[in-house]
Amino acid sequence: MAEKRAQFGTRLGVIAATVGSAVGLGNIWRFPYECGTGGGGAFLAVYILFVFLIGVPCICAEFSLGRSSRRGMPGAFRISGARKQWGFLGYAAILAAFMILAFYAVVAGWTLEYIIDSATGLFRDTPNSDRHAQFTGFISGWKAVLWTIVFLVINGLVMIGGVEKGIERVSNILMPILFLILIVFCINSLTMEGASEGLYFLFHPDISKLTPDVVLGALGQAFFSLSLGMGCLVTYSSYFADDTPLIKTSMQIAALDTLVAVLAGVIIFPAVFSFGMTPDQGPTLVFEVLPNIFHSMPGGSFWSFLFFLLLALASLTSIISVSEIIVAFLVDEFRMGRLKATMIITCISLVTGTLCSLSFGPLKSLNLFNIFDFTSSNILMPLGGLGVCAFVGWQMRRSDFTAQMKMNSKVPAFIFDYISIGIKYVAPAAILIIFIAGLF
Ligand code: PFF
Repeated sequence: MAEKRAQFGTRLGVIAATVGSAVGLGNIWRFPYECGTGGGGAFLAVYILFVFLIGVPCICAEFSLGRSSRRGMPGAFRISGARKQWGFLGYAAILAAFMILAFYAVVAGWTLEYIIDSATGLFRDTPNSDRHAQFTGFISGWKAVLWTIVFLVINGLVMIGGVEKGIERVSNILMPILFLILIVFCINSLTMEGASEGLYFLFHPDISKLTPDVVLGALGQAFFSLSLGMGCLVTYSSYFADDTPLIKTSMQIAALDTLVAVLAGVIIFPAVFSFGMTPDQGPTLVFEVLPNIFHSMPGGSFWSFLFFLLLALASLTSIISVSEIIVAFLVDEFRMGRLKATMIITCISLVTGTLCSLSFGPLKSLNLFNIFDFTSSNILMPLGGLGVCAFVGWQMRRSDFTAQMKMNSKVPAFIFDYISIGIKYVAPAAILIIFIAGLF
């Protein structure tokens, strides 16, 4: 007899785990620097538009595929009498998951070092002029590799616990803590002198800042932040109960994920402005600029400890969702036990993660970190997103899709149309554009 498929135990658990996947480095590290270089309010406005116009339909497409097939990638594509060719999209998703796992663990590992440095007062004792050298020195060395390994091991331990006892339980604990820390930070940031300048930057859309690059950046950011295009939400929704309302859940996830990105902006930009810095520093914004700011703040070590703890917790609930894509694949396709699947994934990613970390030091010329980042975010994720929308929009039986969308919920006709048209036309067209632009 086939083993019963795991399921999330409660509706709250579904939200905590899925929002946990969405909220991660993408919101707290990537969003502020993308928004900072993309002109602030203009970027935010386009970003929000994309999340609801394209992101929500894509989430619904992944959910309908996952729950109707009760399979992860690539098994989900085998439903509805689909032809075999679709399966390759599933394998592309698995490859993307391995790549993201490797480079995500590296950046997540940096947050662990920063937690320790904050707690021991190293940041406080380092003059701001040495900050850049301190950061580049750290990421190019073996200590960064060590933290990558530590993060992957913690991830493995959660994964062994399973869907309900591992992922759901950890998400249920970590997500409320994360929101609490965010709120404490926002209050602190809003009371800073000069906070209004930062808020003006974040919320005032200056249309002249909207270049094609900014628009594309916002679309890519929406995909990454909502965990779209690599089957993560297909996999998670294969564990949803039949009574989980899919459209409502997709909107809740999109709203909460966007809220966290906006809150991260509310935390970072007022601080950046009130300390006379500029918001367009790029990827080092969180790791170099923020420590400078914490250094000059009363109670700086405490705030910096709390901030990097926030980043580490958010990274953990995201990285477990990336790992689950591969665990589900090994369990579904090879009937492997969860423990064995987790061990295999952990061993492989210990090697790839180490190579990615060393890309900032001895393996600079190979730079696997950038290769993995570029290939997964700019090629495999858009391709996967396009594939899922094309499959659900054009290949899946219409009645199956409608049944999934409407199961256990009253959906007004205009909402259903917005989702269906988004999946069939709007999202595929938009994704094709990022895909082509991302390549060139
Ligand atoms: N959404 C995560 C973040 O914003 O950090 C990253 C991510 C998780 C991407 C899971 C893709 C994925 F499948």
